[in-house]
Amino acid sequence: MGFRKDFIWGAATASYQIEGAAYEDGKGLSIWDRFSHEPGKVFDGHTGDVACDHYHRYPDDVKLMKEIGLQAYRFSLSWPRLMPEGKGAVNQKGLDFYNRLIDELLKNDIRPFVTLFHWDFPAALQSLGAWENPDSVKWFEDYTALCARTFGDRVKDFITFNEPQCFIGLGYDVGVHAPGYQLPNSSLVPMSHHILKAHGTAVRALRSLVPEVRVGYAPCGDPCMPATNSPEDMEAARKAYFTVPEKGWTFNVAWWSDPALLGCYPESGLKHLEKYLPHGWQEDLKTIHQPLDFYGQNIYNGRYYKAADNEQGFEMLPLPVGFPKTAIQWPITPDALYWGPTFLYERYKTPFIMTENGLSAHDVVSLDGKVHDPNRQDFLNRYLLAYKRAAEDGADIRGYFHWSLMDNYEWAHGYKERFGLIHVDYETQQRTLKDSAYWYRSVIESNGEVL
Ligand code: NOJ
Repeated sequence: MGFRKDFIWGAATASYQIEGAAYEDGKGLSIWDRFSHEPGKVFDGHTGDVACDHYHRYPDDVKLMKEIGLQAYRFSLSWPRLMPEGKGAVNQKGLDFYNRLIDELLKNDIRPFVTLFHWDFPAALQSLGAWENPDSVKWFEDYTALCARTFGDRVKDFITFNEPQCFIGLGYDVGVHAPGYQLPNSSLVPMSHHILKAHGTAVRALRSLVPEVRVGYAPCGDPCMPATNSPEDMEAARKAYFTVPEKGWTFNVAWWSDPALLGCYPESGLKHLEKYLPHGWQEDLKTIHQPLDFYGQNIYNGRYYKAADNEQGFEMLPLPVGFPKTAIQWPITPDALYWGPTFLYERYKTPFIMTENGLSAHDVVSLDGKVHDPNRQDFLNRYLLAYKRAAEDGADIRGYFHWSLMDNYEWAHGYKERFGLIHVDYETQQRTLKDSAYWYRSVIESNGEVL
């Protein structure tokens, strides 16, 4: 038992969070280039202008990946680096950069997993209404086709969107991420529909342009876990996980997954939101619902639920006082990696890959020059044991990507949070493998047997 023989072990990053070179070699601006420079939006005014300078240091970074023993590396492409205006003209130097990176990975036997969109939306298209504009489907299709044609001879694993819940929820609903808007449902719901349609259109484009392609999707949504193993609590947790709430619906997993994987919007969501869907949405479901080779999920924590005698039939349990938390104050709930994949596989019946999981901790370089991060190792050990149990209990689990490869720009938190296996000194750009990176190597080498 344990993880399957061909299980994929990797780590993940995203373009704006690590690349830097924000104004170099013909790159266009993204909404994050703009937002991070607006006073008061990001912790201590941090920006991604330089970030980890990965744009220049990628060969050394690939060496470090090799040292950790990564089999796969998930990274995203910066749309405005490739198409400075988001559509039309192509920036050859941007293509060259990713070509060099991909070649370097392949030379080192590291399988590239490419995320097409991880939040750095072209600023020029924001001025045209971004995802609210129905043309966004075509913009994304053209951008996808460019990536497929350029990289598809060597990249076989593509992910369309990363966490639409967050770039729409935090960016256009709550307003704490770029572009910092607080829009009504009459804007947000059409946006969500266009993104889902762009996802389906991109899957089709990838299949027609990339021989032997494998396509996935990486949404999120904190799993709801049963407080006990009673059938009532299990049903309550399942219901809580997949019920679209009226408030905070943008963060729900089912709204963004059911159309893509089941070909319908969840009833609980339609009840409140159908009136905002664009005309002809039922027809679009055929485009949205495309077969996927894997269903990705980013999971960091979950909440416990029990059955309740109320209208919904479930109730969330408060966390006990002193419950363990990570540096960013997210609760440590290893069972999320059991219940999340278990419930998601039960519902969507699609091979599952954990596209992100990890924690931020207060990591420092010690006097001995090393970074001792026992908290990360303990966290990962617990979470991976739960993940392994989910596989042993029948979920078709294919891989795991640690977030993140290296410390990086944690969006509105700036560089305050350290999620990496590799410590980055942002003053010197010195990289140091943390103790957890060496431990992760032993996990990879043993295919999870050391857990
Ligand atoms: C979600 C996002 O995909 C990633 O960009 C972010 O840094 C991590 N999870 C941690 O918050």
